[in-house]
Amino acid sequence: MLSRDDVFSELGIGPVWRLRETAPEQSAPGTYTWDTLADAVARCTACKLSTTRTQGVLGVGDRNADWLIIGEAPGADEDRLGEPFVGQAGKLLDAMLASIGLKRGDNVYITNVLKSRPPGNRNPEPDEVAACRPYLLAQIELIQPKLILALGRFAAQSLLDTDEAIARLRGRVHRFQGVPLVVTYHPAYLLRTLSDKARAWEDLCLARRTYTSLTPDP
Ligand code: URA
Repeated sequence: MLSRDDVFSELGIGPVWRLRETAPEQSAPGTYTWDTLADAVARCTACKLSTTRTQGVLGVGDRNADWLIIGEAPGADEDRLGEPFVGQAGKLLDAMLASIGLKRGDNVYITNVLKSRPPGNRNPEPDEVAACRPYLLAQIELIQPKLILALGRFAAQSLLDTDEAIARLRGRVHRFQGVPLVVTYHPAYLLRTLSDKARAWEDLCLARRTYTSLTPDP
C-alpha cells in the first residue's frame, strides 16, 4: 500500500510537514547583522541548491518595514537578477500591494522561504527549507515587522508548520514568531487562476485591517 508521503510525492506535492522532523533550532538571537546575513546567504552551501543557483537572493526593500512579504523561492529571473519577485508574478505582486496602498521598498520588505532557486522551479524540499530557516528567522529579528503576508500554499504551510490547504489557511490571522500572519494566494497562481483574484483581494483587505488595528493613528 502507498504511504501518505508516496501519494503526495506522486502528486508532486512536497511533504512540508516533515519540517517538524528536520527543522533546526532557531539561530541564537543577535547572531546576524544585515551585513553578516547578506554575506552568509551569498556564501551559503548549507544545501544542494548552492550547486545549481546563480546567487543567493536575500530579499529587497525597507529593512525597517512594518510589512514583511514572504514567497516561496527565487525563480529564474530572481536567480539571475538577485532580487525577489522581479518576473511576471512580481508585477502582479506590486499591483496587489498598490491595491492596499503599499509599494515595494516603502515600509515593505519582500523575501522568500528559500534564498536559492530550486532547479527547474521544482518544489522546495524539507531539508532545503530547514537549511534556510535561520536566515528567515534572522530577517524577522532584524526587521521586526508588524505583519507578515505569506504568498501561496508552500510559504503558508512551511511557516505555519501544517499541511492544511491554503483555502482553509486564508481568511484568518495566524502568528509566526509572534508576528500576525495573513495568508493569500501566490501571484503566479493568480496569473493562472483569475477566479481566485476576488479571494486574494479579501485577504489583502484582511491584512490591511489587521495592520490598521495594530497601528492606531498617533
Ligand atoms: N515566486 C516566488 O515565490 N518568489 C519569487 O521571488 C519569485 C517567484
